[in-house]
Amino acid sequence: MGQASGRNDRLGAERRGAFALDAAAQRGKAVAKAAWWTAAGGLAKFITRPTEGKAAPRFASDAPPVSRGRLRRAYMSAFEKDAADVAAGLYPPMEDAPSHPAASILKAWDFLADARAVDERRRRGDGVEVRDDPKSQGYPAYYRQNFHYQTGGWFTADSARRYDAQVEALFSGAAGAMRRRALSLLARHWRGRDQRDLRAVDVACGSGAFLHDLARAFPRAGLAGLDLSPAYLTEARTRSGRGMMQANAERLPLADDSLDAVTCVYLFHELPPRVRPIVAAEIARVLKPGGVLAFADSVQPSDEPQLARMLEAFPAYFHEPFYGSYAETDLEALFGAAGLRVAGRDKAFLTKALLLEK
Ligand SMILES: C[S@@+](CC[C@H](N)C(=O)[O-])C[C@H]1O[C@@H](n2cnc3c(N)ncnc32)[C@H](O)[C@@H]1O
Repeated sequence: MGQASGRNDRLGAERRGAFALDAAAQRGKAVAKAAWWTAAGGLAKFITRPTEGKAAPRFASDAPPVSRGRLRRAYMSAFEKDAADVAAGLYPPMEDAPSHPAASILKAWDFLADARAVDERRRRGDGVEVRDDPKSQGYPAYYRQNFHYQTGGWFTADSARRYDAQVEALFSGAAGAMRRRALSLLARHWRGRDQRDLRAVDVACGSGAFLHDLARAFPRAGLAGLDLSPAYLTEARTRSGRGMMQANAERLPLADDSLDAVTCVYLFHELPPRVRPIVAAEIARVLKPGGVLAFADSVQPSDEPQLARMLEAFPAYFHEPFYGSYAETDLEALFGAAGLRVAGRDKAFLTKALLLEK
């Protein structure tokens, strides 16, 4: 008895030591990544000066200026929570950026080379250029837009390859850590479960950043990605090695009560108000009773009143036609109407996460 408990103590201490080492590795990577993408984002701003000159978007708000201290604390919270979850053994350290320096340089270079084209679209206020592209025919009108003024919208391989660099530069390297607030909630919920029995789909998986993290955290679970963009799905497949479905989230090609979890990151702020309840109901439909939605999206002004001015500025500089209505959406009521109740919540920097149970 005494010997067994001594061995357990020793094993526990070894495991904690290993997790602490992992967390240190995660912190080290976060510092490098934050510096890299802050520099790339700063350089893009230096090149394009989006708030100055002819036809720069005008933005007015009654919200008070954002304090630098508050912003820094919110930013750091994403990395601190991420490292704490690795230290707790909830998930392993993650590779967010290309691990090879040459690949990181190429990604940043490509992002910077495209920054002027994005800025020209911003100055023209042209968020629907992509409608001239025959590839966009047949998709819903709300989808046929150059979200973020990105080149090619959701319709080209170049856009899919460039997307992560754009997001990381926008959030100064914190995007992966922010998305993982949803992973943290799911990992706590699934702790102790046999992964081999679990099935989950990442709805609107984009280029696969979150699915890649899911696959690292739950390597034996049945995981797949779903998105409307064939180009982004190709990128996500390469990145995560998981199966993909091309489909509209309004009509999920999945049976009723078939999944243990759905994950959904940064989709809802890009949906028009009439579509959000349809997608929420579809997600609820495909979840098993007791299944969960791990959701992450932008914080709303009510979550972070001190950052409200920044949140209001976002859609003025990055084409986000539905962000204003998202900011005011009562998410608990939206998902509640679909039969999902809040079972957990978290937030870091500019992202909030909810765990919603059927
Ligand atoms: C802002 S990106 C988020 C991607 C990814 N989840 C992430 O964390 O980076 C939005 C994604 O939603 C997809 N999307 C938008 N509307 C959709 C719909 N109705 N059905 C399926 N996917 C949709 C887009 O193709 C795009 O990949």
